[in-house]
Amino acid sequence: MNKPEMKEEKKRNKDILDVVDYKLDPSLVNKYNGMTFFIKTYGCQMNEHDTEILSGLLSQMGLIEVRDYENSDIVILNTCSIRENANNKAYGMLGRLKHIKEENPNLIIGICGCMAQEENVVNEIIRRHKYVNFIIGTHNMHDLCNILDKSITSKNLEIEVLSKADKQVENMPVIRSNNFSAYVNIIYGCDKFCTYCIVPYTRGEQYSRKKEDILKEVDELVKDGYKEIILLGQNVNAYGKDLYKDYNLGNLLEDVAKKNIQRIRFLTSHPWDFTDNMIDIISKYKNIMPNIHLPVQSGSNKILKLMGRRYNIEEYKKLFDKLKNARENMTISTDIIVGFPQESEEDFKNTLDLVDYCKYDNAFTFIYSERSGTPACKLNDSVPMNIREERLQRLNEKVNKYFKENNDKLVGSTQKVLVYGKSTKENMYYGYSENYKLINFTSKNIINDGDIINVKITHSKTWSLDGEECE
Ligand code: 5AD
Ligand code: SF4
Repeated sequence: MNKPEMKEEKKRNKDILDVVDYKLDPSLVNKYNGMTFFIKTYGCQMNEHDTEILSGLLSQMGLIEVRDYENSDIVILNTCSIRENANNKAYGMLGRLKHIKEENPNLIIGICGCMAQEENVVNEIIRRHKYVNFIIGTHNMHDLCNILDKSITSKNLEIEVLSKADKQVENMPVIRSNNFSAYVNIIYGCDKFCTYCIVPYTRGEQYSRKKEDILKEVDELVKDGYKEIILLGQNVNAYGKDLYKDYNLGNLLEDVAKKNIQRIRFLTSHPWDFTDNMIDIISKYKNIMPNIHLPVQSGSNKILKLMGRRYNIEEYKKLFDKLKNARENMTISTDIIVGFPQESEEDFKNTLDLVDYCKYDNAFTFIYSERSGTPACKLNDSVPMNIREERLQRLNEKVNKYFKENNDKLVGSTQKVLVYGKSTKENMYYGYSENYKLINFTSKNIINDGDIINVKITHSKTWSLDGEECE
């Protein structure tokens, strides 16, 4: 058994990790032929991509993925712990699985992802959720097949969670969720330690993937006909800092942009690590999409300081303007937290003022959630929950107003849309414009997922646009 320790997770040792190729123990190949699995994914795009890898790993053992957890032999929760409600969702699902297991004692239940790295969660599962079969951490996800096999054989709760990564594993099998848009990890972990955030503990130290390994993966995706590549990391703008003296996200973006790929996106960007050179590359290469996620978190310098964000609002606005001017049609989205400890009404109004300045095209807004063990938990003067809720509502009213106003301006324009599939609306398809507007549209032609087509915008809503295919 290996349990996570938050004290260890916090340490940074700056070692360069060995890179090894994934290999499944030959005795496990197809060992569980025909058994079924279901993975429930919570949280961010990194987790979505991890699920694609988990599916790839399990498939090598002969397991088959199903869409219905109630009739699956194995259910894995790929968890998120960014806010308390993410943890609560996973606990709710565990409750449902407990009932299913009472009927079907052979059900195998596994937990992976960020919650598995939380010391208190693992202790809680040992104490109160003994029906779980295995817990595997974010740093040894590649060991899934061994741990699953061990838990099936031993029938005990197997816990294998490392507090720190001990190697980087390349060439893991992956079953991608579609054949036109692909996630590619470029950097793992985060060293920013924003005071509210649990990610530097659950995802650990910042480690970049070698540029050769990334570019090889991109080459394979190009060969397989992918149209879009989304470069992923908790803070992609720190790419390369731990590995190279003179190769950063700008260089990587340029190398990827020179490949024959139509759409390149990257997320998430910390404003602190955005350089002019990166902005120059974004303006130069038209296959880098004009949409950037630039979390601001708060519009108050006092709160930004308490959050440990390393920039002030004047610097943020300057960067925002530079990015906005880097490309025609550039859209910028953000993350904002309300109700951080000591946030006064005046601080909150500064956030509203910032939204008036930036007029974001999209914003993810959150109520501050205490994460045990993070420095912000120790701050006094927490904001009462009713005030946090009221501020969230006021903020949402403002951000929604700008989403709609920005969308209104696009009515009558023609947008190039990458088709994602049939819309939930009857006789409509949906996809994303270059600047990441969600577009529902009609067409008289046969449309395939992954096509890139022109759509004339006919109607705007707060979160989406309607249109019809045009020449
Ligand atoms: N409470 C609320 N929101 C949080 N985020 C990260 N940690 C917390 C927290 N403790 C938000 C930030 C981040 C996004 C992914 O989640 O806005 O950018
Ligand atoms: Fe969390 Fe800050 Fe790292 Fe983003 S940059 S993952 S908010 S610590």
